[in-house]
Amino acid sequence: MGSTTSKSQRGRGVIESYRAFLLLSASAPVISLGEGNTPLIYCPQLTKRIGRDCEVFVKNEGMNPTGSFKDRGMTVAVSKALERGASALICASTGNTSASAAAYAARTGIPCIVILPAEKIATGKLVQAFAYGAKIVAIDGNFDDALRIVRHLGESGDFVIVNSINPDRIAGQKTAAYEIVDEVSDAPDFQLLPVGNAGNITAYWAGYREYHAHKKSTKLPAMIGFQAAGAAPIFYNRIIEKPETIASAIRIGNPASWKQACAAIAESRGAIEVVSDEDIVAAQNWLARHEGIFVEPASAAPIAGLLKSCNSSEKVYALQKIPEASRIVCTVTGHGLKDPDLIIQQMKKLKSIPATTTDVRRAIGL
Ligand code: F0G
Repeated sequence: MGSTTSKSQRGRGVIESYRAFLLLSASAPVISLGEGNTPLIYCPQLTKRIGRDCEVFVKNEGMNPTGSFKDRGMTVAVSKALERGASALICASTGNTSASAAAYAARTGIPCIVILPAEKIATGKLVQAFAYGAKIVAIDGNFDDALRIVRHLGESGDFVIVNSINPDRIAGQKTAAYEIVDEVSDAPDFQLLPVGNAGNITAYWAGYREYHAHKKSTKLPAMIGFQAAGAAPIFYNRIIEKPETIASAIRIGNPASWKQACAAIAESRGAIEVVSDEDIVAAQNWLARHEGIFVEPASAAPIAGLLKSCNSSEKVYALQKIPEASRIVCTVTGHGLKDPDLIIQQMKKLKSIPATTTDVRRAIGL
């Protein structure tokens, strides 16, 4: 396992980088778009806000081939599906899973069916699924309804389900935790991430635990998950029938990996927290303007939590007592350009001016 992170393997996709950990047979086809190896970015402004000699990093999963962390799981799920002779893929999605499934299906030449909640998918993600040639079905229901239907259709054996209820997805997504440990030579003290269907928090925890068992890290992080206040079933400990949030990626009321997420939180002495839509939008703007990292609203949820914890009048219990000199990693899960509608609303309409230096000088206030 010694050579799992050699430089020559970087950029070749998560299967080639971490094959020994992914239990792929030597004969399995590798369907990759060069996912993974995403930047772990030190954030000086966030670090300054937190103080206490801490260090804050952002793991920018928006830098994956389809702009979200889903690609890590999809390469493994689609490769294994192909090995087993799959003839079609199917998924429910709030947008990113469908974009990723459609791309990897396109590379294999097998069809991909995506079931989406009508009018609740960010424009960029819908455009991606369409561009990659998926068969798109919009339903009058939410993500939880879509996943219920996908589970039924999967029972027929005609399709391989590539949602995170497929363990191959979780296996692939563990590689983000491996990368973090490889890059900073140990696990962080805190791992923050947004929670929707709860597959990713489950995968990260499994990844950290495995790497720890292989003595690649000396410690395990506290896993802190963030849900949007209107879609926070784990936080409130009840199914939310009609989840609502502007962070459409995590608009989920009955997460499939609920139990596994609770186990990850309990075992790691972590926590689940909520943030309001208002805080999410503010954090999305703040991160873009202070660190140069533009993420989609769901991805701003952990940043919102971190920023709130710096304000002593606010209550983010899990982050109130971050010990001195902690290393904190926030995973931002999807690229900002996938879901630009909120930002577009903030923009004033641009009016053109005459093409002269004088006019341009005046326009920029010189
Ligand atoms: N962030 C983004 C950008 C997502 O797209 C998702 C989930 C999450 C966070 C939450 O991850 O579900 O593993 O807890 N998106 C799924 C989808 C549901 O269909 O694209 P999770």
